[in-house]
Amino acid sequence: MTAPTIDRARPYMAALADQLTAAGATRSRRWDDAFSSVPRHLFVPRWYEQETTERGIAVWRERQAITDADLTAVYRDQTLVTALDPATAEQVDDTAWTGIPTSSSTLPSLMAGMLEDLAVEDGMRVLEIGTGTGYNAALLSCRLGEHLVYSVDVDPALVETARQRLAEAGHVPQLAVGDGSHGHPAECTFDRIIATCSVPALPAAWLGQSGPGTVVLTDVDLGVEGGLVRLTVDNQGRALGRFTGTSGRFMAARTDAAGYAPPQRTERAPAVETRRTTVTAADLRANYPFRLLLAFHLPGAQLVYHVDDAGTMALQLQRADGSWARAPLTADGPATVTYGGDPGLWREVEAAWRWWTHAGRPAQDQFAYVLEADGRVHVRHIPDGARWDLPARA
Ligand SMILES: C[S@@+](CC[C@H](N)C(=O)[O-])C[C@H]1O[C@@H](n2cnc3c(N)ncnc32)[C@H](O)[C@@H]1O
Repeated sequence: MTAPTIDRARPYMAALADQLTAAGATRSRRWDDAFSSVPRHLFVPRWYEQETTERGIAVWRERQAITDADLTAVYRDQTLVTALDPATAEQVDDTAWTGIPTSSSTLPSLMAGMLEDLAVEDGMRVLEIGTGTGYNAALLSCRLGEHLVYSVDVDPALVETARQRLAEAGHVPQLAVGDGSHGHPAECTFDRIIATCSVPALPAAWLGQSGPGTVVLTDVDLGVEGGLVRLTVDNQGRALGRFTGTSGRFMAARTDAAGYAPPQRTERAPAVETRRTTVTAADLRANYPFRLLLAFHLPGAQLVYHVDDAGTMALQLQRADGSWARAPLTADGPATVTYGGDPGLWREVEAAWRWWTHAGRPAQDQFAYVLEADGRVHVRHIPDGARWDLPARA
C-alpha cells in the first residue's frame, strides 16, 4: 500500500490547523498558514502507540499512515513517538517493542504555543535543537524561509531521514548532526533559539550564538520537575525571563546518539520511621507549580513512582546521598510519610508547601529564571522577590 498523497491529506491538515486555532494554541494567521500547509504524515509516516498486551506488558505498537483512519490519527493533537532507544528496545511480536522513546513528533498544540511564544519576525534566523522528524523545521521553514532555519539533532539517522522528508516537502534548511548543547556548527548568531529536548541549564554555547535581544525558549530540567522558560539575552550576556504558562515537558537531551545512559544505582538508606505529614502524594501529583517550587528547594533530587512488594504505589523523593522519603498514593486516614536517611528531605517538602500555599499557590509563570554571564543561575518569585539559587551551569 502506498503512502497518502498531500492532496488526500489536505482536509486533515486544515482540520488540525483549525483545532489549534480554536484551542488558542495558534494565535496568528502566519502560524495557522504553516500548520495548514505542512503535511505531518510526510514527517511521521510511522509511529508507535502505547498498548498493553494480553499478558499485561506495556508495549509500543507500530502504526503506519496508510488509511483514512491512520491519517485521522496522525493529524490528532497528540505526541507521536517515532524512535525507541535500541539499547532498551526489545521486540515483543511482529509490530511491537518495549523500550524508552528517543524521538517523537511533539504535541502539535504545545509546538504551536511555543512557536507563537518565540515571536519570530520576518528575516529572523532561528536555531532549533532536536530536529527529530523534521516537522517543526518544516513549520519554521514555511514561516521564515528555509535559508533562515538551522536545526541540529544528536542522532545521525534521524537527521538523514528528516533531511530527505524536508526535501520532499520542498524545504532545505541547514541541518547538522551533533550534541545541540554545543549549538550549531554554522558560524553565526541566532535571533531565536528553540529547544525541543530539555537541558539541565542553558548551555554556554547557546549564549555564544546569541546576541542582545535573542530569545531562547527551552525546557529546563531541574530534577524533581522542570519547565519551559522564555529568556531574552541582554547586552551583558545574561539570559532573563520567566517560566511560561505552559506546563509541557520534553525528553532529556542526551550526549550519546545511541541512547540514554542507564540510570545510576544508588544504595538507599534504611527506613527510619513513618510519621504524619501535612503534604500528600496527591498534593504533589496534582500541583505542577508546587513540584517546580520543590525543584528550586531541592536541586538534584528526583521524584519517582515506587511500588513496594505488597503492590502499594507511592511517590518517592530521592537524593544521590541515599536519602529518600515516600508518600503513598492510595492512603486512607491521615497522610503519612516514610523516610530513610536525612529527615530534612521531607521537611523541605512541608516547608515548600507552607510557602506555596501562603503565597496564594502561584502558577509557574510567577517565577523568573536568570542566568548570569558567569554561569550562576537563580529563580525568583516575581511578586515578592523570594529567591532560590540553583547550581551554577557547568
Ligand atoms: C521531541 S523530539 C524533537 C521533535 C522535533 N522537533 C520534531 O518536530 O519532530 C526530541 C529530539 O531531541 C533530540 N536530542 C536529544 N538529545 C539531543 C542533543 N543533545 N542535541 C540535539 N538533539 C538532541 C532527539 O534525538 C529527538 O529527536
